Amino acid sequence: MVFYHCKKETKRGGNMSKLSPLQIERYKYTPKLPKTLSEGISNISVEEGNVTQSVDDQETVKSLFPNTYGKKEITFVKGENTSPDKVQKVGVILSGGQAPGGHNVISGLYDALKAINPENELYGFKKGPIGLIKDDFIVFTDEYIDQFRNTGGFDIIGSGRDKLETTEQFEIVAEMAKRRGLTAIVIIGGDDSNTNAAVLAEYFAAHDSGVQVIGCPKTIDGDLKNEDIEASFGFDTATKTYSELIGNIARDANSAKKYWHFIKVMGRSASHVALECALETQPNVCIISEEVAQKKMSLNQIADYIADSVERRANKGLNFGIVVIPEGVVEFVPEVSALINEINEVLAGSNADEFNALPTWDEKFVYIQDHLSNESFSTLEILPVGIQQQLFMDRDPHGNVQVSLIESEKLFSALVKTNLERRENYTGKFSALHHFFGYEGRCAFPSNFDADYCYSLGYNATMLIQYGYNGYLSKVSNLSKPASEWHAGGMPITKMMNIERRHGEDKPVIRKALVELDGKPFKYFAQNRDRWAEETCFVYPGAIQYYGPAEVCDLTTKTLELEHNE
Ligand code: FBP
Repeated sequence: MVFYHCKKETKRGGNMSKLSPLQIERYKYTPKLPKTLSEGISNISVEEGNVTQSVDDQETVKSLFPNTYGKKEITFVKGENTSPDKVQKVGVILSGGQAPGGHNVISGLYDALKAINPENELYGFKKGPIGLIKDDFIVFTDEYIDQFRNTGGFDIIGSGRDKLETTEQFEIVAEMAKRRGLTAIVIIGGDDSNTNAAVLAEYFAAHDSGVQVIGCPKTIDGDLKNEDIEASFGFDTATKTYSELIGNIARDANSAKKYWHFIKVMGRSASHVALECALETQPNVCIISEEVAQKKMSLNQIADYIADSVERRANKGLNFGIVVIPEGVVEFVPEVSALINEINEVLAGSNADEFNALPTWDEKFVYIQDHLSNESFSTLEILPVGIQQQLFMDRDPHGNVQVSLIESEKLFSALVKTNLERRENYTGKFSALHHFFGYEGRCAFPSNFDADYCYSLGYNATMLIQYGYNGYLSKVSNLSKPASEWHAGGMPITKMMNIERRHGEDKPVIRKALVELDGKPFKYFAQNRDRWAEETCFVYPGAIQYYGPAEVCDLTTKTLELEHNE
């Protein structure tokens, strides 16, 4: 059955609000589950594996999580369901940036809860963690859930970036959970949100509250992964969306043969998104931030590296190309990261007011010169004025430079232009265009992979709740194989933790996964990039396909394929 999402607007505006043909079809799609979860609730049994320990700093993490540390890993297997017969009232939140598939995590949770017992209830807390504090929720019904099946976005209940980390907040949530009779809370989020999930789980366990906490791995950035979690959800759809767009631009470049396209792709700090897009589309250049950091590359060295490709191609009469740049690259350039740190210091506290009160950029520039070290000032000087101003204008609520807003695609094309002008033997034409692909990938209709993976994560989370686990991340693995061969289970979140310095304090956190330079995806890229830099080897992935042969529609990412298939 098809439900209209904008019933109110329809009545008010008198305009019949339509759903797109694809949305109508996607409502009918039945997500695939791992075999062990698809044979009926009564046939899902649990197998406990080894006790776990944190990836590092074991003694400290153990002391901080006395009630939830060292639990066993879990796998669901076919067998008699021995979970207790208990009516569940589960709360769920979406936390952080949007990622395609979030709606399916919630659908999977809901369907499993109702399959276990129609009296079970799922509460959706609105706008992220703050919804738990404000006790602001809806109780899901079939009609409501059905409007969101297999669709992108987080509009089902909204999301937010508030943090749930203080004891006062935990007390409020515990009080609310008691009042509402909640038995569990599911947190769908990235590394920080799942770190907070682990702390909340420990709090509930320590206070005998009887509320369980389960996390689900979300982020298009792909940086919540480790030996247990093969991929975070949303990465597949987002990278396929960006790769489609990059491929289309590459084909335009190869048709017009007159532009170099500088394309920045989202992904905050890690370069997983950029690397995956490069593996999919084979651009002439893709910068990998982790390599920049390892080789301590300067801005000029990066520009020189790109300009080499421009010159080599120009020598063949190819005055066009594609450069992919990861969103967070400038932070990985040692001189820029030093500059940003100094700017943050310079503009801390009352200095910011003094600086902002200066009426012209010229006066501000003199102020900056007086306050920065000579090294940082020379780094600043090589940046185009627009970028210099971005470093000082766009600041987050804590007063820090918002690195993601720096138009690094423009920065590098400007540096490359200057570099080429200095090259005596370069006689080509260099005309650059700029793009940023970010938000367009975060709410796309989830690919079949993400639709299936997310639904499985949600279904699996319900089974973890039913079997009484607390402080676990919903784990679905063997993802490079067809969904029926996926493994379902759970991993104690504390296993993924170590101690890191955050905001001047040592904190237990889930370790963020950066691109591994000795990993197979990067090695494959490194083996091929020299040829891609000079020749035209573009691959055109085209749009995500939802219907058709599995070889086209159920493809995983190249990253997963290289990491997990021989
Ligand atoms: P999460 O880590 O919360 O999943 O968010 C990822 C992300 O999409 C980054 O790629 C990007 O830098 C950031 O969110 C943008 O944040 P905002 O949505 O607040 O503009």
